[in-house]
Amino acid sequence: MSSLFQEVRTVVDQERCIGCGLCVQVCPSRTLRMVDGKAKPVGRTSIQCGHCQAVCPTGAVQVTSLDPRTYTFATFSASSEWSGFGKDDPAGLARLMASRRSCRNFKDTPVSQDMLDDLVKLGITAPSGTNSQRWTFTLLPSREVVVQHVEAVAQYFQALNRQAESRWLRLGMRLLGKPDLERYYQSYYRGVARALRDWTEHGLDRLFHGAPAAILVGSAPGASCPAEDALLATQNMLLGAHAMGLGTCLIGYAVAAMRRDPSIQRRLGVPAEECIYSVIALGWPDERYQQVALRRMPTIRVAGV
Ligand SMILES: Cc1cc2nc3c(=O)[nH]c(=O)nc-3n(C[C@H](O)[C@H](O)[C@H](O)COP(=O)(O)O)c2cc1C
Ligand code: SF4
Repeated sequence: MSSLFQEVRTVVDQERCIGCGLCVQVCPSRTLRMVDGKAKPVGRTSIQCGHCQAVCPTGAVQVTSLDPRTYTFATFSASSEWSGFGKDDPAGLARLMASRRSCRNFKDTPVSQDMLDDLVKLGITAPSGTNSQRWTFTLLPSREVVVQHVEAVAQYFQALNRQAESRWLRLGMRLLGKPDLERYYQSYYRGVARALRDWTEHGLDRLFHGAPAAILVGSAPGASCPAEDALLATQNMLLGAHAMGLGTCLIGYAVAAMRRDPSIQRRLGVPAEECIYSVIALGWPDERYQQVALRRMPTIRVAGV
């Protein structure tokens, strides 16, 4: 596994540096220090988070590995001015978060490549463990490509359902201390069998809900927290998609199939060493709501009282 700390790519323009020390204060990897009243990149490592560049009042710092194209959107323009603590409207944010719904009715209209690219850029504004940013995004840009994936996932579940139908196999697995097949049979088998029949007999896609595009979010090897990184990026994309007018639905069935049958991910050109953590079906929604949906009360405890 490669080191999570990366080489130092921080450059400080000594002429522009006014010695305020702000970059040193926010640097998490002790890459920058004040030397003779100016900031200098004297550390041996850096997590390349870019905090120094973002905090500098004179534009003296640059982290050369950071790419301005990652914050240049094709379908909308976004200010790069930092929005300070408390500056945004929490009510608007709450409404956006609660208005995102899993969409299971899509129009046929394709989603443009620009929108898919912009969603990825929104995804990577998420935090990542040690700023490793090892996330990967596999775009399924058209209904044709999504259908090929639906076929592959459906084949996996057809085989699994055939196994689950065998009472003896379920029993044997249970006796070997592997109760998963029995659990699958009890909880999912019948619903999956119905969905498979709908697909093979009527062409009704209850797996990807007829979505005209999808994005798989994964992680390349070497991340300290690959699942968390991918899922945080995923949530950003779900919210961003809603704001951009797109509906989304996470497809856990596709993630499960890809975990257990590596050939599915290979067929999409995803290298074997990558792990896929979420599959997002997306498209122009063919549904609308009157209200946000509420939640059950979660468990909340206050420790230490
Ligand atoms: C990890 C995960 C996997 C999911 N997998 C599926 C899926 O395979 N098919 C589907 O229609 N919805 C799937 N969903 C959507 C959930 O059913 C949905 O989030 C939940 O019912 C709450 O509804 P909401 O997303 O509209 O708030 C998944 C959600 C999550 C978080
Ligand atoms: S934040 Fe900018 S001006 Fe301030 S010490 Fe660092 S490089 Fe110099």
